[in-house]
Amino acid sequence: MEASLAEHAKAKHFHTVTPLLESWALSQVAGTTVFLKCENVQPAGSFKIRGIGHFCQEAAKKGCRHLVCSSGGNAGIAAAYSAQRLGIPATIVLPEGASLKVVKRLQGEGAEVQLSGKVWDEANLKAQELAKRDGWVNVSPFDHPLIWEGHSSLVRELKAVLGTPPGVLVLAVGGGGLLAGVSAGLAEVGWQHVPIVAMETRGAHCLNAAIEAGRLVTLPNITSVAKSLGAKTVVARALECAQDFKILSEVVEDAEAVSAVQRFLDDERMLVEPACGAALAAIYSGILGKLQAEGHLPPSLASVVVIVCGGNSIDSQELQSLKARVGQS
Ligand SMILES: Cc1ncc(COP(=O)(O)O)c(C=O)c1O
Repeated sequence: MEASLAEHAKAKHFHTVTPLLESWALSQVAGTTVFLKCENVQPAGSFKIRGIGHFCQEAAKKGCRHLVCSSGGNAGIAAAYSAQRLGIPATIVLPEGASLKVVKRLQGEGAEVQLSGKVWDEANLKAQELAKRDGWVNVSPFDHPLIWEGHSSLVRELKAVLGTPPGVLVLAVGGGGLLAGVSAGLAEVGWQHVPIVAMETRGAHCLNAAIEAGRLVTLPNITSVAKSLGAKTVVARALECAQDFKILSEVVEDAEAVSAVQRFLDDERMLVEPACGAALAAIYSGILGKLQAEGHLPPSLASVVVIVCGGNSIDSQELQSLKARVGQS
């Protein structure tokens, strides 16, 4: 019985086809129709399940017997969730200071949690070490073609609902996996001309720094409160996408991302991480209007699609403390 359940899990993808909602409030702010691609309602709390679920299913087909991941964030939760669905054990390696809440959440998904090192890079080394064991596979949070392929499903869903391409697509960039996947999806459905506004917060702006330098740049530190965007170096594929697609890279301050989280909660009654607030700030902070005024986007846009990437590391208490940190309480 168990074996057949696991077989079934290997065949069907783990993500949900998410709603595309027209937002009256954001449309008012943007001056055009804004659609929200609600990845916040995915199982495991973010779009990450699309790519990571796909990667884990493919790994299982190839005989993986144990999944390991060094993210305590949304990628780790997606990996633990996928492992549980596949009936494969998972080990999530976190740095020693990891919050008890995250540890409990991962254990709730059936994963074993190991603490190693002081920072993520050290935990990641441990994960890579473990992945050398026979049958163990390391799950990268954003750096694998299968992960991008999984994320690209989001664009097929957009095409199925919208039919015609939106005027612009807005998303947040951390390590660049979502950007790489969405770009692949746009090419697949023939929408490669649709501009993508790629949003980052200052202090986690590794794509923006790379585009400005014309090469990959490693940030010295992650100083933004949007920890889910906290990759020091963007994946090389994301920088290539900036050459192959129309990508407009924009950076907002933490205060703008946090304020967007609060406004979105009030407008749409949905609570998301600052990582997602960075994308929403494209509307709330007038970035789209600025890009139109500068001639980077057409003066009139058919519609705007914002990928509401979601995120688990947020609750009302955390929002209060984020607001205090950025001087908004
Ligand atoms: C909620 C959320 N939004 C956006 C991102 C950025 O995604 P990527 O690292 O694929 O660029 C992440 C990454 O963890 C995330 O968790």
